[in-house]
Parts: sequence; structure tokens; C-alpha cells
Amino acid sequence: MEGQPSLVGETRLPTQRRVRQIWAIGGGKGGVGKSLLSSSLAISLSRTGNKVLAVDLDLGGANLHTTLGVDLPRQTLNDFFSERVNNIAACVSPTSIPNLEFISGAQDSVSIANVPETQKTRFMQAIRDVDADYVIFDLGAGTSAHTLDFFLAADINIVTLLPEPTSIENGYRFLKSAYFRRLWLSPKLHTMRQWIEIAMDSKNNEGIRSPSDLFRAATREHPELANLLKTEIERFRPKLILNQVRTHSDIEIGFSVKTVCKKYFGIELDYLGYLDYDSAVWQAIRRKRPVMLEFPNSKLVTSIDRLVDYLLKKHADQRSSLL
Ligand SMILES: Nc1ncnc2c1ncn2[C@@H]1O[C@H](COP(=O)(O)OP(=O)(O)OP(=O)(O)O)[C@@H](O)[C@H]1O
Ligand SMILES: [Mg+2]
Repeated sequence: MEGQPSLVGETRLPTQRRVRQIWAIGGGKGGVGKSLLSSSLAISLSRTGNKVLAVDLDLGGANLHTTLGVDLPRQTLNDFFSERVNNIAACVSPTSIPNLEFISGAQDSVSIANVPETQKTRFMQAIRDVDADYVIFDLGAGTSAHTLDFFLAADINIVTLLPEPTSIENGYRFLKSAYFRRLWLSPKLHTMRQWIEIAMDSKNNEGIRSPSDLFRAATREHPELANLLKTEIERFRPKLILNQVRTHSDIEIGFSVKTVCKKYFGIELDYLGYLDYDSAVWQAIRRKRPVMLEFPNSKLVTSIDRLVDYLLKKHADQRSSLL
């Protein structure tokens, strides 16, 4: 495959593209289970007969390969971003799991902040045409513009958080940042960009603290764009998976987060479900084996399979709100 022309600049209709859906797993905080969830969803999805590609976009802190139970491969995304390889297919590595391949994140001192905008666009164009039915993005922690852009470029945007105040706080920050970034990237709302930029500065002097404040301020100046803004807001439908749940009241936190998102941000968050805290996870990680394979009878495996089944049945047609 190496040596084929890059896909940059090719214009194709979304319907003609190889990949059916991209799922992104994000969340503001480190250590909340993004990689565990990404690898487990990828394994479960590959067992449904779909061809799956898991991509480690946690540049600088890449460890998806460990949760997939494979060694760090020679080729990484760094080779694609630095144009040492032209075709993204050259960065794809096999796993021992049928139907599942993966692309390792760049480990060698490449931080996500160092990836030029053009390379990000080149990656996003190429990834829609890899030889896979589904692509899973494992994102890094934080709310950098690149991380938000990878999150928003996906068709299914999953946020994971723990039922702890620090994680919930970071989760809100991540969702709010993704939301503003989503509006900022919309070409139709170009004339509102100035307001969106003000809103993105959390200490702005205009008193814009929440997306609803932004809506009020921006539509006062551009009333003709109110409907458009509303439509763009409604198209952002992120999903929540609560991880490491220990008690019944932990489960309820997912519903509270959903309510807060609606009330204060105007974001329609789908609470997909939760994963229990399970000692099988760290035991599997210590053995450098995927928990899905090492503990096939654990409750976690059943929960993951159920989440995949739900997403395939209920959200098969969801497309990135930026397409
Ligand atoms: N459901 C769970 N039950 C028990 N332990 C868990 C569970 N989910 C995650 N963990 C533990 O949390 C640790 C962090 O998980 P993981 O590496 O997937 O998080 P992450 O969000 O990808 O972190 P980072 O932002 O650093 O990449 C794991 O090593 C594992 O031990
Ligand atoms: Mg991770």
C-alpha cells in the first residue's frame, strides 16, 4: 500500500467513503478509563463481524497497545504526521484479535500540540478511507484544540468520567470546550466567531459563562442567525459512559450530569450507561492483556457488549455534526 498517492485534496461524498462510523472516546481528565474503554469497545465491535481499526490519538502518552495486549509497533502515527509515510495504511499494525487492527500513537516526544494543522486535516481525510468498517479514537486527556477536533470529527462522541467531583468537573469543562469548539468550527456561524471566541475565554468581561449566555449575546447582535445556531447546537449529541461505578448512587450521577448539561449548557447528552469498578481491569493490565480476553466472564465484558449492541442498533446512522 505504501507509495500510493495521499488522499489529501480528494473530494468525495461522505456516502462513498469506506469507513462506516468513527467513535471517539474522550473526557477531560487523565486516568478515567478512556484507553480501557476504547480497547474494550474495539474488541467487542470486532466480534460482531465488523472490521475495526483502533487509533491511539493520545500523542505523547500512547498506551492503547498495552490495553490491546500488543507490543509497541515500529510504525506509529508520528511517521504519518512527519510524512515519512504517505499512506496511513502503512501505520496500521495487526493484533492477535480477528477483525481488529490498530494504529499506535506517536510516543517519541511528539505532543499533540506539535502536530501542524495541515497534518491533522490530512489525517482526518485519510482515516475515513482506511480499510475498516469502524474506527475508534482513543483520545488523550485535556482540552487542547487538536483533541477537541479529533473528538468532534468522529460520528459518535463518547465522554467517559468517574463518579468523583474532580472528574465530573473536568468532564463538564471538556464538554463545554467541545461545544464551543463545535460552534466555532461551523462555517455557517462564521460571523458569530467573535462571540464564540469571547465565550471560549472563561474569564471574559462580557459575562458569558455558559452556552446559553453565548446564545443570548450572539443572537442579540445576529438575530437572523438564531435558528441556525439552535440547529447547530442540537446537532451536537455527545454520549456519556460512567466508569468505575461502585454504588447505586454513583449510577445516578450520570443522570445528574445529563440534567446539568441540558439546564446550564443546552447540551443534549445521551447517558449510555456505566461500567462497574472491577479488579479484573488492573489484573488484566498488569498482565498486559485485554480484560475482554483475560476475564471473558466478567460483568465488564457483558456491559461493554451491551453498549456496542445499543450503539449499533440505535445510532448506526449518526454522522459527525461537522460533515
Ligand atoms: N472499570 C474499571 N475498574 C477498575 N479499574 C479501572 C476501570 N477502568 C479503568 N481502571 C483503571 O484505571 C487506570 C486508567 O485507565 P486508562 O488508562 O484506560 O485511563 P485513560 O483515561 O486512558 O488515562 P490517560 O488519560 O492517562 O490516557 C487503568 O490502569 C485501570 O487500572
Ligand atoms: Mg489513555
